Amino acid sequence: MTSIRNVAVIGAGTMGNGIAHVLAQNGFEVTLIDINKAQLEKGIQQISKNLDRQISKGVIKEETKKATLDRIRPGEFVQGVSNKDLVIEAATENTSLKLEIFRQLDASAPAECILATNTSSISITKIASATKRPAQVIGMHFMNPVPLMKLVEIINGYATLESVTEAVVGITKQLGKTPCVVNDYPGFIANRILMPMINEAIYSLYEGVAGVESIDTVMKLGMAHPMGPLQLADFIGLDVCLSILQVLHEGFGNPKYAPCPLLANMVSAGQLGVKTGEGFYTYQTGSKELVVSRNFR
Ligand SMILES: NC(=O)c1ccc[n+]([C@@H]2O[C@H](COP(=O)([O-])OP(=O)(O)OC[C@H]3O[C@@H](n4cnc5c(N)ncnc54)[C@H](O)[C@@H]3O)[C@@H](O)[C@H]2O)c1
Repeated sequence: MTSIRNVAVIGAGTMGNGIAHVLAQNGFEVTLIDINKAQLEKGIQQISKNLDRQISKGVIKEETKKATLDRIRPGEFVQGVSNKDLVIEAATENTSLKLEIFRQLDASAPAECILATNTSSISITKIASATKRPAQVIGMHFMNPVPLMKLVEIINGYATLESVTEAVVGITKQLGKTPCVVNDYPGFIANRILMPMINEAIYSLYEGVAGVESIDTVMKLGMAHPMGPLQLADFIGLDVCLSILQVLHEGFGNPKYAPCPLLANMVSAGQLGVKTGEGFYTYQTGSKELVVSRNFR
């Protein structure tokens, strides 16, 4: 496998800009691509802000910021992938969109280029089926926020070659992160274990076993989790939690993954957590406040 230097990141949103940031900071040449031009600019500004935060915390020096930003270039979909060794796709979580992106990437990227996806829940094997190179398609599941979180869950599709996995494990280590290689089954490992815990917390609230604060406090203090499952669900987005649970439920055909009806109701009501200002807690001017004045029903 040729050594990997030139990388394209597709999608400059929350995850894409974080992935471009860590790649460039660790010496890779990065082309950042987004169909939305405003989002692409916003993504690059966000990287600059995050680098400033690293400087103020003494994590990096001023000159690292400049060198990092110099290695990131905005690019066009799909011309921007024509000379790349690796493409990491971090576009919106939507199966038909990702299948179309991979079809186009396959047609435009060099034959030896590895195509990775940051999907949280879509089958890598299914995404790979949109290409004529399924052996070179792999999951590279970074955690949010990317510059801070050490884990990268690496997901082998049904056909992924061992040499491709080894190359991606190598890059992950070069980024100062810890790779964990898993196989391609619904939810992989992270969400297969996390989402049932969140769902069970929501069921406990729904069944009146305890209130929001008690549930979160038990899990924080009792299990040494940095935040409770209901607060974490608000941060992830309740719509995202619902959609991952649906993938688990459908993929395994097992009722134990059925999303709690309260979660489905909250999503239908547009209460998606931090991003809409209300979920299990309310979020105003960045502060976290428990919703006490209402019943969850
Ligand atoms: N947010 C998280 O906590 C998190 C964690 C792990 C993995 N993920 C996964 O990462 C991926 C991205 O999630 P996000 O939270 O960054 O989403 P986001 O909505 O913040 O960003 C997605 C970006 O993709 C762009 N996009 C859409 N279609 C495109 C196309 N055809 N070509 C180029 N760009 C396109 C959008 O304009 C947007 O800027 C998803 O697959 C998600 O499941 C998210």
